[in-house]
Amino acid sequence: MSWPELVEDAAQIIHQAQHLTLSTGAGMSKESGVPTFRDAHEGLWEKYKPEELATPQAFQRNPDLVWSWYMFRLDLVSGAEPNAGHRAVAALDAFVPKVTVITQNIDSFHQLSGSVDVVELHGNIRRFRCFDNCQGPRTIIDLATSEVSKEIAPPCPHCDARVRPDVVWYGETLPEWAIKRAFEEAAACDVMLVIGTSGLVNPAARLPQVAKEAGATIIEVNPSFSMVTPIADLVLEGPAGEVMPAIVAALGKRAAG
Ligand code: APR
Repeated sequence: MSWPELVEDAAQIIHQAQHLTLSTGAGMSKESGVPTFRDAHEGLWEKYKPEELATPQAFQRNPDLVWSWYMFRLDLVSGAEPNAGHRAVAALDAFVPKVTVITQNIDSFHQLSGSVDVVELHGNIRRFRCFDNCQGPRTIIDLATSEVSKEIAPPCPHCDARVRPDVVWYGETLPEWAIKRAFEEAAACDVMLVIGTSGLVNPAARLPQVAKEAGATIIEVNPSFSMVTPIADLVLEGPAGEVMPAIVAALGKRAAG
């Protein structure tokens, strides 16, 4: 069935939810014009693979190259806006007693759209820290990006290491608190809404299964088949920027009685 025919079913499931947990990925920000992780390789970056740049080893080998790539992506994110899908996700807070957004995205668009409870699994491209964690694990360094070089990884203000983005690189562990919260909210929710993720990257990929095994209803919003699709109870095959506002409009009609 086409996704518009399934909007009422999705709204009915969410309307009855007491605890809604969302799991969102790069597809959530596609309609903001932010290329997904793997798309951010047009032009000057097309000769590199993300796996070659988003690793601690790559940064140690060539900090300025990795820094420049993140500054390029930060410019893309800074020049973009949250889209109607993000705003609709934030609007869900008004319809369900408890809503938690678990995101693999690093662009802050959920927070900027007004979502209150957001768990960032992979960090945030707008935050920075010392590569050597000299002030303690994941201690954030206040960096005015407008004053730092776009090509040279700045020195840490506290030691002679370099500053890096506060994002999770390949081969690195995710923030402990984020993993703990994500799996707690997946196991406790009665509905999980999965939006814009291929479901390929762990540990985020395991969240829908954890929710399903705990008895939650799984709804997926994605224009394409993903690793989540086979276990979803309801699949709306459309773009988040159109599907999510339609679901919120249907919830608004229910709330108005
Ligand atoms: N609305 C909803 N979903 C969309 C849209 C859209 N407008 N456009 C694309 N998609 C879907 C794609 O069909 C795909 O399933 O978004 C998904 C994006 O998948 P990925 O690019 O693999 O992104 P994601 O699942 O978030 O990747 C996870 O991998 O690259 C690393 O750390 C990086 O956080 C990232 C992680």
